[in-house]
Parts: sequence; C-alpha cells; structure tokens
Amino acid sequence: LRGRMGMKSAGRSWQRKTVRENRGIDVMETKRVYIKDTENVRDEELKEAALVIRRGGLVAFPTETVYGLGGNALDEDAAGKIYAAKGRPSDNPLIAHVSCAAEVEPLVKYMPESGRKLMEKFWPGPLTLIFPKSSRVPYGTTGGLDTVAVRMPSDPIANRLIALAGVPIAAPSANTSGRPSPTTADHVWQDMNGRIDMVIDGGAVGIGVESTIVDVSGETPAVLRPGAVTMEMLREVLGEVTIDPAILGPVAEGVHPKAPGMKYKHYAPKAELTLVEPEMGDKKAGMTKAQIDRMVDMVKMLAKEQIQAGQRVGIICTDESRDAYHEGIIRSIGARQSQESVAHNLYAVLREFDDLGAEVIFSESFGEDHLGQAIMNRLSKAAGYRIVRV
Ligand code: TXA
Ligand code: MG
Repeated sequence: LRGRMGMKSAGRSWQRKTVRENRGIDVMETKRVYIKDTENVRDEELKEAALVIRRGGLVAFPTETVYGLGGNALDEDAAGKIYAAKGRPSDNPLIAHVSCAAEVEPLVKYMPESGRKLMEKFWPGPLTLIFPKSSRVPYGTTGGLDTVAVRMPSDPIANRLIALAGVPIAAPSANTSGRPSPTTADHVWQDMNGRIDMVIDGGAVGIGVESTIVDVSGETPAVLRPGAVTMEMLREVLGEVTIDPAILGPVAEGVHPKAPGMKYKHYAPKAELTLVEPEMGDKKAGMTKAQIDRMVDMVKMLAKEQIQAGQRVGIICTDESRDAYHEGIIRSIGARQSQESVAHNLYAVLREFDDLGAEVIFSESFGEDHLGQAIMNRLSKAAGYRIVRV
C-alpha cells in the first residue's frame, strides 16, 4: 500500500528533473509503472520504459531471479549511471541481458561449444554465461575485462522490455551496493527511489536468488556463482565443470575470484548474522533429525545469551522448526522440505530484519545439494562466513 501511494505522488514523466545532491548524485523523480497481468504483458505498458533505455536512462524491472537495474549495455554513459545509482565500484562488471539467441552473436568474439550447449538447454532462464567479448561491448560495461556476461531471462516482462528497447540491457541487481538483492518492487523502491527514471512493478519474483554464472571463455567451464541452474544440472550437460574457490569459502587476501562481484561482502543485512551448522560428513546429503535438533538447540542457546545481554535478536528458522522457538524476533525463511521456498524468501527475510532493527541474527543452515548450494553461498556471504558448528 505504501508503495502504491508513493507511486501516485511520484513523477508524471521520466524526464529528469534534477537537483544536485552534495554527493554528486542527481535526484530525480522515479516513475512507478504497474503491470496489470504479468502473464499477458502488453507492449503499451513497456513502451515508455523501452524509450527510457534507448535514450540512455535507467529502468528497474523484474526478472525470474531478482529485480534488475537496467540501462543500454552498449552505452558507456548508461553503465556509468548504473554504478552511480547503486554506489557500486565500477570495476565490477555488468550482465548484458538479451531477448533471443540471435542477439548474442554481436556481443561475443566467438561462440564456445560449451556455451552453445548451455544456451540450448537452459535459456531463457536463470543462467549467465561469460564469453570472450566482441569490440562492440564497451569496457565501461565489462569493468575493463575482455569477457562479457550474457543472460536471456525467461520473465515475460524482462524479455519483452529487452526486445522493445532494441539493445541489450546491462542489469545488475537493483539494490544499493551491499544490501540484499531486491525480490519485490518495494525493495527496489526503498533503494532506488529518486535515483533512477523508472521502476516496473511486476510483483514478487519467482526464484529469489541471482542467476548461476558459468564462465565458458576458458578451457573447462567454471561455475563462478551458484544459482537455480544447479551443479547437478550443469554436470548432466557438460560432464566436467569446475567450481571457483570463491564460492566455497571466504576469499583470501590476494586471491582474485573470477567474478569480481564475489570479492565484496555482499547481501549483507545490517545486523551481525551468524549461521549455525551441524557437523556433516557430506554437505550434499540431507541433514538427519538429530543434526537438525542439535542445530535448533544451539540457535536457541545463542539467541538467549544475546537477548539476556540486551540485544535485539532475530532468528531465521524454517516452517518445520518454527514452534521450537519462543523468544526473539522469529521468522521462517521457508520450508526445509522445499529449497525453492527458502531461496524465494531469503532476501526478503534479511531485509525485514533490517526494517525491524535487529542487531544480531542467528540462522539455521541448509544442506548444499541442488539449490542448497546457492542458498548456503548467499547466507554464508551475508554472515561474512561467521559459522558456528555443532
Ligand atoms: O540474476 C541475475 O544475474 C541478476 C538479474 C538482474 O539478471 N543480475 C545480477 O547482476 O545478479 P549483478 O551485477 O548483481 O551480479 C553480476 C555478477 C557479479 O558478481 C559480477 O562480478 C559478475 O557477475 N560478472 C559480470 N561480468 C563478468 C565477467 N565478464 N567475468 C566474470 N564475472 C562477471
Ligand atoms: Mg548484485
């Protein structure tokens, strides 16, 4: 409701009415456009947004993973505006989003066989591929790299917007740098109102964590960020796939992860988040009931200690364990039985704890099979790898 009111009082046009802030960022009116029926998007609803992109402006839009902050990927100035709006270091490259396979060719130097296979199998969908870039893609978009990240989203709003814009759309997640990625238009509004031309409100996204990134520019395909196209699914198509060490643990001093974005402390809630994890021989195997019980007991104990010390304590539990907790701000992140539900709610829960002013958060953890790898990657990073093992 709050968002809807905000829209009414916001701009009538995307034309920039700028006032200089002392930080050097333009303050502008941000228009919010509501898509009535997200399954049957009409071109009229997206025409103005496409025009904004073509003219070098910025539009946030839903994709199946998270909301993106879009600008013309072939326009270095637009890339510069994206970095400014997010407060993001400009050495962190952007993903170019396309609406069909034919739009990839002009962006890449050549098409590796593994890339072609993955496109056929998983596009459109939550998979980003890293290719050697063509000269058409400006270094302003790739953070100075000779490779380019490309993704074809399946979300009908995203897909149609790109097609109507007639240019590939560079889009990082539409959050302020360092905040959890946005999974609703309200999240985007919190971070981007007054900083970009337009937000397209297509409701909550489906998946909730960012796309899987696979680098196909080298000899062996390498996963740089886990997502909804899982390791298990990739192995089925490719056989051999390596995994960038930055996914598995904290990035050591002097080591450069291949996805520059993975070196930043990302997805961070304002509170200090600690994960509690049972000792498991095989993280890919499911947790036993005894392991889950031990974990829940430890979360309760740590929370109690902090509550007694006068802290505002958040607890991240699951639908299954919800009733075991009696004190603190308790939020279920989804059903342990359904990894999809956990991924879907993950960032919204972290943002809610920010809004509630939690100072410390303790969270249950998850197995790392299938989508669990992406879930644990995001939670571990949000926790700055503060993990208590029981
Ligand atoms: O699901 C997604 O991928 C969302 C939606 C909007 O499509 N986008 C997204 O973008 O998550 P962003 O900018 O938040 O994350 C992109 C990641 C960063 O970690 C960046 O370093 C990496 O992709 N990346 C981009 N281009 C790259 C390149 N040429 N080589 C290696 N990593 C690259
Ligand atoms: Mg991001």
